[in-house]
Amino acid sequence: MDELIDAALSVLKHSYAPYSNIHVAAAIKTRSGKVYVGVNIENSSYGLTICAERVALFNAITYGERDFVELAIVTDHEKPIPPCGACRQVLAEFSRDLRILMYSIKSKKLIEATLSELLPQPFKLE
Ligand code: THU
Repeated sequence: MDELIDAALSVLKHSYAPYSNIHVAAAIKTRSGKVYVGVNIENSSYGLTICAERVALFNAITYGERDFVELAIVTDHEKPIPPCGACRQVLAEFSRDLRILMYSIKSKKLIEATLSELLPQPFKLE
């Protein structure tokens, strides 16, 4: 299995999803090869939930990273989970050519896409 998917799988157990029961973990790789991980964190006020992708990205940004090449998203849901619209826009702030791997541990299905395929026209002021 892919190294980045393995990194996401290693933290999937820490996903906090008592409301949807859909557990998601993400791992994002910098151009220099470093990997940062995150999980979805839900809240009883549902709208305050944050997706695994943004937790992984914000974790990386916190450590000074800005340049990303690949993202893995893993879930225990039957279908691989593509990043939500909000996460696509936030990811597009930092990288346009991100390769995205989406994997379900339940169905063992793997889907690949690029961020520009998933969000061809992100909002940008320049
Ligand atoms: N979720 C993610 O972590 N990433 C996505 O891109 C889509 C949705 C989470 C949020 C929530 O905890 C659960 O999946 C169900 O929506």
